[in-house]
Amino acid sequence: MPLIALLPGDGIGPEVVEEARRVLAALDLGLTFEEGLVGGAAYAAEGHPLPPATLALAERADAVLFGAVGDPAFDNLDRALRPEQAVLGLRKQLGLFANLRPARLFPGLEDASALRPEVAGTIDLVIVRELTGDVYFGEKGTRTTSAGLRQGFDVMAYDEEEVRRIARVGFETARGRSGRLCSVDKANVLETSQLWRDVVVAVAADYPDVALTHMYVDNAAMQLVRAPGQFDVIVTGNLFGDILSDQASMCAGSIGMLPSAALNGTGKGMFEPIHGSAPDIAGQGKANPCAAILSAAMLLRHSLGQDAAADRVEAAVAAALTGGARTADLGGATTTREMGEAVLAAL
Ligand code: NAD
Ligand code: IPM
Ligand code: MN
Repeated sequence: MPLIALLPGDGIGPEVVEEARRVLAALDLGLTFEEGLVGGAAYAAEGHPLPPATLALAERADAVLFGAVGDPAFDNLDRALRPEQAVLGLRKQLGLFANLRPARLFPGLEDASALRPEVAGTIDLVIVRELTGDVYFGEKGTRTTSAGLRQGFDVMAYDEEEVRRIARVGFETARGRSGRLCSVDKANVLETSQLWRDVVVAVAADYPDVALTHMYVDNAAMQLVRAPGQFDVIVTGNLFGDILSDQASMCAGSIGMLPSAALNGTGKGMFEPIHGSAPDIAGQGKANPCAAILSAAMLLRHSLGQDAAADRVEAAVAAALTGGARTADLGGATTTREMGEAVLAAL
């Protein structure tokens, strides 16, 4: 019986994870669920955003379904105690270096996209985001300059093996789709990016069937809204991937629609919507649970080998949307629970 660790976290995290859990439970796959404290909720209860018992649960589980962490009440804590450290710690501790963030427009959401309908309709891509390196995990701190000024710094760094392994995930992902990979970097300015580009080019020799292109991140941000259909798979670093995926979400209708899978190559994974805890709408039943439900589908596919069940869940989300269910972010008045119900009904 596969064990799923549920880490709901803060804000809308518990609201959307509950809908995803109900969908998973309805599939009758004999899954067991165990819930853990994480983020601000864990800090409030135990004084740490990622308590040892939560990390142990995540390590023991076959897969982790994660909601979101972050709470303005804790924004002034020491960085090591802030809720966000929980998600970073889980990614690092579990070695989840590869983050898949698919963005596609579900039929009927053309009007929710920030793009014109005929442009929005063309988006169907996967951002392969490196997840355990870059400025997120480089040396950081605050120091005093020779002029006596406080200076903050976060070192951007990638070693070649870190680039090689995420590049391979990019090529493999492209190979399983339409065979086009765009590596996004800032090699015109950054040494980190020049190494990134050199390594990606070297790895390309093993994938003659994949068409590799390179794009600077500023241009990529522009192209993503100009003509998103040109992209199939994008492989990029941690920070660029974070930003581009939020942007891609609005091409596809809403940040409440984008799921993600964080993988380490063993089948173990952590699955979470790309959005945060949304304090502005928390506790109001307004959150769109689709990103969490679609993350559960990715969990089924990537960690449990349940491809058919994953397809069913994705089809049920599509059917719920086609049936007219629309949370506020999609321009409707459907509540979080009602959206979950609509997906369950379509299952
Ligand atoms: P956010 O993604 O939480 O919210 C941005 C905007 O999108 C808000 O207006 C919010 O209401 C809306 N939104 C987000 N998810 C939605 C959903 N499912 N349905 C409908 N609307 C939705 O980003 P933020 O406001 O920059 O950050 C809030 C907190 O979340 C911060 O503490 C941040 O650090 C944290 N955060 C956590 C994660 C994570 O846990 N993986 C990701 C991003 C941000
Ligand atoms: C995300 C979030 C996180 C990130 C934060 C909360 C650490 O924005 O999952 O996209 O930057 O990776
Ligand atoms: Mn983000």
